[in-house]
Amino acid sequence: MTINGVSYSHEVEPRMLLVHFIRELAGLTGTHVGCDTSQCGACTIHLNGAAVKSCTLLAVQADGATITTIEGLARDGQLHPIQEGFWEKHGLQCGFCTPGMIMSAAQLLQRYPNPSEAEIRHQLEGNLCRCTGYHNIVKAIQYAAEKMAKR
Ligand code: FES
Ligand code: FES
Repeated sequence: MTINGVSYSHEVEPRMLLVHFIRELAGLTGTHVGCDTSQCGACTIHLNGAAVKSCTLLAVQADGATITTIEGLARDGQLHPIQEGFWEKHGLQCGFCTPGMIMSAAQLLQRYPNPSEAEIRHQLEGNLCRCTGYHNIVKAIQYAAEKMAKR
């Protein structure tokens, strides 16, 4: 599979989860594991352009796939607008959920370039923030939507 433009090839046990391939074999530890129940969204990545929870897939299911993780979102040294939004609006507290939130938010903005607050909250229901910092996360996404609209 290709992760952030780099090709990775490993023989793995069929039971290995994609999130463990990403963290342990590719060494990309920005993708977090926050639960054992596929509920928290901390492990969200983009698989062939779609945001998915990487703990819900086996690594072998991603054979040949193109993956983007939080480490691959910035381009040419420039933060993605959603990363900048989290920075500007203090969208993170402990930061544990942040990589998954940002990957989900990036997909959200592709689908809803001008999202309402209700749409943002609804679209992020699969991502849990234990710090209950949702208010600033919403503001961060609104910031990114405005910034992307001006491009
Ligand atoms: S670690 Fe994947 S949803 Fe929690
Ligand atoms: S910032 Fe702490 S879990 Fe979300």
